[in-house]
Amino acid sequence: MRRIGILTGGGDAPGLNAVIRAVVKSALNQDGFEVLGIKNGFDGCLDPEGVIELTRAEVRGILPKGGTILGAANRGNPFARTVIRNGEEVVEDVSDEVVERIRELDLETLIVVGGDGTLRISLELFQKGSPIVGVPKTIDNDVGGTDVTFGFDTAVNTAMEAIDRLHTTAESHHRVMVLELMGRDAGFIALHAGVAGGADVILIPEIPFEFESICETIQSRAERGRRFSILAVAEGARPKGGQQIFKSAGDKLVQARLGGIGATVAKFVEEACGVECRVMVLGHLQRGGSPTAFDRWLGSRFGTAAFRLADKKSHGQMVSLQGTEVTSVPLEEALAQPKTVDLEGDSVRTARNLGLSLGD
Ligand code: F6P
Repeated sequence: MRRIGILTGGGDAPGLNAVIRAVVKSALNQDGFEVLGIKNGFDGCLDPEGVIELTRAEVRGILPKGGTILGAANRGNPFARTVIRNGEEVVEDVSDEVVERIRELDLETLIVVGGDGTLRISLELFQKGSPIVGVPKTIDNDVGGTDVTFGFDTAVNTAMEAIDRLHTTAESHHRVMVLELMGRDAGFIALHAGVAGGADVILIPEIPFEFESICETIQSRAERGRRFSILAVAEGARPKGGQQIFKSAGDKLVQARLGGIGATVAKFVEEACGVECRVMVLGHLQRGGSPTAFDRWLGSRFGTAAFRLADKKSHGQMVSLQGTEVTSVPLEEALAQPKTVDLEGDSVRTARNLGLSLGD
């Protein structure tokens, strides 16, 4: 039997189950394959109960479900993991144990579904000799080497629906509503949802903003009789010459968590523009729920493409969407640079032509 493993690392994203199902189905539809699921990211490699066989029964009915049936872990970096030594918690590099476990499990290929962080770990494990194939996942859409990641479309739809709902209450109360959206250092969610939902101001990390410019937009709308405005603010947005705002600092084990820029913008709007303002942080709603058709479709295409790479033993590759075709790129190439909004690209031009303010 040729044995394939699959794990899902980092934060979850809608469409993960579509990928798992696609890997299992395409493997079992071909003679001579079996699939093992590793639970809770790389942590499952070090857990005696962290590995399960994935049969057709395990993946039945999971396509519409959000989250991941395998579980995920934010602290699952084997190169910096908390372990207990002599009764004390220490951070250690246990990557050799993970490489050894992959060998012990006799995995011909390990398919790793993850965002930037998890794929970076995968590249290092590949460089240590593990037979890895990567699948890019994240609602942030910030992984290089692919035009789109699955999870992004669902998050954008959720954010757009929030903007639609905020519109009616903002208009009724003649208020400004600020919606803080996820995305880390990339503004894709705010930009796409902002345009799709008809926001008036969109602030993204790639374009440091001027507070005064927000007031100008709000005031000029008021002069035209539009006494409400909607501001879509990416969590990573920052004012010109200022810093991003963090909810919590990172350390060796976890990434710093962005959050708070929405409240800062709202405070400024009330004080400096003299308009009543409310803020809403959409948060993890963007990660939850049933994946859209696009994310189920992309997840299914990525999963089957990952199986085809595994079948050919094309390790060190990541599946990728380029234009309308699913293909693959070396993990190293994909991770060379994180993807951010192209300031000269069509998305930004679209927003500007529509007369939306990007805060600059
Ligand atoms: O990368 C996905 C993401 O949802 C980001 O948009 C956000 O900044 C972060 O993860 C939140 O992480 P956590 O789930 O650890 O709060």
